[in-house]
Amino acid sequence: MATILCAGGAGYIGTHTCIALLQAGHKVIVADDLSNSKKAALDRVQQITGQEIPFYQIDIKNENELSVIFAKHKIDAVIHWAGFKAVGESVEKPLMYYQNNLGCTISLLKVMAEFGAKCFVFSSSATVYDVHNAMPLKEEDVCACTNPYGWTKWMGEQILRDVGKVDAQMSVVLLRYFNPIGAHESGLIGEDPNGIPNNLMPYISQVAVGKREKLSIFGNDYDTPDGTCIRDYIHVTDLAQAHILAVEYLMNGGESNTFNLGNGVGFTVKEVIETARKATGLEIKAQTAPRRAGDPARLIASSEKAKKVLGWKPEHADLEEIISSAWKWHSTHPTGFADGRRDASC
Ligand code: UD1
Repeated sequence: MATILCAGGAGYIGTHTCIALLQAGHKVIVADDLSNSKKAALDRVQQITGQEIPFYQIDIKNENELSVIFAKHKIDAVIHWAGFKAVGESVEKPLMYYQNNLGCTISLLKVMAEFGAKCFVFSSSATVYDVHNAMPLKEEDVCACTNPYGWTKWMGEQILRDVGKVDAQMSVVLLRYFNPIGAHESGLIGEDPNGIPNNLMPYISQVAVGKREKLSIFGNDYDTPDGTCIRDYIHVTDLAQAHILAVEYLMNGGESNTFNLGNGVGFTVKEVIETARKATGLEIKAQTAPRRAGDPARLIASSEKAKKVLGWKPEHADLEEIISSAWKWHSTHPTGFADGRRDASC
């Protein structure tokens, strides 16, 4: 059993991972500034697992506040999601993104070194890959980003690789997520973005619940079978399992490593919309719009390395099933966590 600090653990992937960690017998501590997440989500995690989670609302960049947590709990490993993630905003406010996303990573590493915590799992992204690579993407493929958000992920990786080289005790797993969607089977937690969603699945869900009128399909002239972009969608609970395996791999002496996390199958935007219509039984209006800057035509993962080295086995390959799990959450919580209601069903 390990004691794991989940930095940014109140968010979408963090909360799903907290559930999986607790159910696997690990101890979880969450630090989050709640800038893009809600405390209610963690309350639901406690409701689902029946376990208490020590929670600290802090700025992860603040080393003094981090030190208080490390002094109080004997932290074995850190999983780091704390960061801004809106691509368009990162183009408009690059300094804000570099300062926050890199600052959080650096502060965590400094305080970990001070307290002798040696295992670091980093939330990276498929966005670090150069768009000219052949599919499926492998971990050793060329990296290059198209926006400051992507560069913060790439630079975060580089900082961790560099620290891992000089600190023989520090071991690091970089997890490159493809497109996480879906929600916990309870339907009690799920994605709940602030404001207008940037990502496809939450936007579709908001059209389905009637919060927005129609979806824009960003570009229909890509070199793909129906002209819309292809992505590799992975169930968030499968991602959560990969984090457990990554922590356990490091705790068992595994060397620093990088892993792609995807299903290895691509779906076009139109296929996702059609599948969402089937899963929800709703019309979900959509219209073609211009391309979104920086969108590559295809992103598909080879996750063979995660399967081989970590023993990771994604359990959800069926897109309709994955979308149905998201719909269970969105249809029962059309305003996300804002309703503040405590479900009696769990
Ligand atoms: C995006 C980010 C990526 C980040 C990931 C996190 C960009 C360019 N990339 O990935 O860096 O790690 O989210 O979850 O933003 N689409 C529409 N209409 C919409 C929204 C999306 O047609 O309203 C299309 C997009 O053009 C894309 C596909 O749906 O082809 C998936 O988009 P999205 O869910 O935003 O994910 P990515 O762009 O792949």
